[in-house]
Parts: sequence; C-alpha cells; structure tokens
Amino acid sequence: MMAIHAPEGIARMTQTQTNGATRRTALITGCSSGIGAALARELCRRGLRVYATARRRESLAPLEAEGVIGLALDVDDDASIAAVFEAVARGSGSLDLLVNNAGFSQVGAVIDLTREDLRRQFETNVISPVRVTAAAMPLLRAAAVARGSAVVANVGSIVGLFTTPFAAAYCSSKAAVHSLTDALRMELAPFGIHVVSIQPGGVRSSFGRHAEAALRLPPESLYRPVEKGIRARAQAGQQGAMPAEQFVVPVADALLREPPPRVIRAGTHSRRLPFLKRWLPAATFDAKLVQMFGLDALRDSPRRSP
Ligand SMILES: NC(=O)c1ccc[n+]([C@@H]2O[C@H](COP(=O)([O-])OP(=O)(O)OC[C@H]3O[C@@H](n4cnc5c(N)ncnc54)[C@H](OP(=O)(O)O)[C@@H]3O)[C@@H](O)[C@H]2O)c1
Repeated sequence: MMAIHAPEGIARMTQTQTNGATRRTALITGCSSGIGAALARELCRRGLRVYATARRRESLAPLEAEGVIGLALDVDDDASIAAVFEAVARGSGSLDLLVNNAGFSQVGAVIDLTREDLRRQFETNVISPVRVTAAAMPLLRAAAVARGSAVVANVGSIVGLFTTPFAAAYCSSKAAVHSLTDALRMELAPFGIHVVSIQPGGVRSSFGRHAEAALRLPPESLYRPVEKGIRARAQAGQQGAMPAEQFVVPVADALLREPPPRVIRAGTHSRRLPFLKRWLPAATFDAKLVQMFGLDALRDSPRRSP
C-alpha cells in the first residue's frame, strides 16, 4: 500500500479521530431523493457513519429516522459547503468517502438555452463537485493517513459518453465531469485518495420530474413542432429504469473495495448504449436518435427565411 505522509495538522486531527473511532465515514450530496437517498441508506445499513446532505434539510427526515446524519447543503453555495465540512470535522474528524451526486438535467434544444440555463447546468453539475471536493480535502487526507486511503466518487452518466438531442447541456456537463474525474484521479493519487467515476444508466428517481421542471421551450422556438420529443427526452432515462435501491448495491460493493475500480457502470442500458456508441457507424447512431426524438418531423416544415 502507498505510504502517506501527513502534514502536522492532519496528523493531529487523525490521532484524535482514531481514538476508538473505527467506523468509516461517508458524505453524499443530493440526498433528497433517488440515487443519493438510496446510497445513503445502503451505506448506513453496511455500518458506515453517513452524512446525507440536501438543500432542504426537511427532505432528509426519513433517512435521519434510519440513523443517517442529515445536513443542509446547497452545492452551489461556498458558504454552505464550508459549513458542512466544519460540521463533519467536529463530528468525525475525517472523511473516508465523498460522493458528489447532486445534479439535474437542463432539457431543451441547444439554441433555445439561455446563458443562465447553461451557467446553472454547469455550476451544479461540473463546478460544484470540484469545489466540494476541494473543501473536503483536509478531511479526506486525514482519512487517508488513518487508514491508508480515501475515496472520491463523482456521479457522471452514460450520456457523458454520447450525446442525445434536447439534453446537450446535461450530456456535455457529464462529459466534463468524466474529464475532471480523470484528472482528479491522477492528481489525488499521491495523497492516497482514489477517484471513481460512477456512470449510471437508467435509474428510477425524481430525475425526470426535475428535468421536466427545468425544460426550456420558448414560445417562438423552432422546435415547437417536436415538443413531444423534447418532453420525451426529459423522461427518457426513466423508461424501464432500474430501482435506485437495486442500483446502489453493486455501487456500494465497488466503492468499498480496496482499491475501488476507476469506473462503475450500473443501471438500465449502462453497458448496451456505450457499446452501441462505440461500434455502430456514427451516422447510424445519429439517425436512431433523430428518429427517437421526432426531429425528422422538422424536415417537412417549410424552410422559410427568418
Ligand atoms: N436517474 C438516472 O437515470 C441517472 C442517470 C445517469 C446519471 N444520473 C445522475 O445521478 C445523480 C442523482 O440523480 P437522481 O437520478 O437521483 O435524480 P434526483 O432524484 O432528481 O436527485 C437529484 C438530487 O440532486 C439534488 N440537487 C440538485 N441541485 C442541487 C444543488 N444545487 N445543491 C444540492 N443538491 C442539489 C436534488 O435536490 P433537490 O431536491 O433540492 O432538487 C436531488 O437531491 C445526478 O447527478 C444525475 O445526473 C442519474
């Protein structure tokens, strides 16, 4: 195992923490529903001390009743991030596993998205996991000193591996998460911190409802005639999706393995779709998606000059 040398402050913190404390500690973002809530429950069931976080603290009440520790966290707010890790430092002194799970999908045709839509999408899905990880570093390092390693897991998506119409903001945000995760894996390895990319396929959650709520379709949009396809995209991942409780079992197995794998893929179509993207001719893959979301219908609309 890799030797980890602790800076003085971290060594002190670790010593206090290891006095009798052998339970591993995890913190997960975005636990009001779906994957975050199910993973918090699963890790708690396996004996970890779990901090589940959400913007609305009251949404964590069911998890708290099961022994999970609830904390309020808006991942887009640096003060909120700092307050959460102060609370974890006071409560546990170290953090063995950080799961950057919070995220949403900004649905809409690319040219309909506003500057603010794109900023919000990248703020929550891309920038926030980086800032949360940076803020967690002292606690992750303390865990790495105490036990030899710690883990950061970023929730990407299989649509970070290929792009669909009407969800390009989301797909590109997840591609960016995968890229940042690759760099973090190399940059944090010297400190004994493993970095894992979780790439779910379809998982049953509130994701479709949140995507529908964030859908952008202005009245003057060129894509009004294919509104059905746009609305279908908001719900696409939820068709035949795997229950979140089932999804988190292999994910927890993999995260708790020493060392964990670099990539964890689970959920409906999590292997099939990346396989098709890799092996089908690009034109065939595009044509299938164009047909699936009804873009063909626009070909018949009159090509008037604007
Ligand atoms: N479900 C799928 O099929 C699927 C597939 C691939 C990837 N994923 C990814 O899996 C992760 C979890 O999604 P899910 O499926 O479990 O959907 P979900 O049920 O909608 O959960 C998303 C969570 O993220 C939270 N969140 C959003 N913005 C936040 C912010 N600024 N600060 C803190 N929390 C915030 C939501 O909290 P609020 O209740 O406060 O909005 C909610 O708790 C996401 O990163 C998603 O992109 C999901």
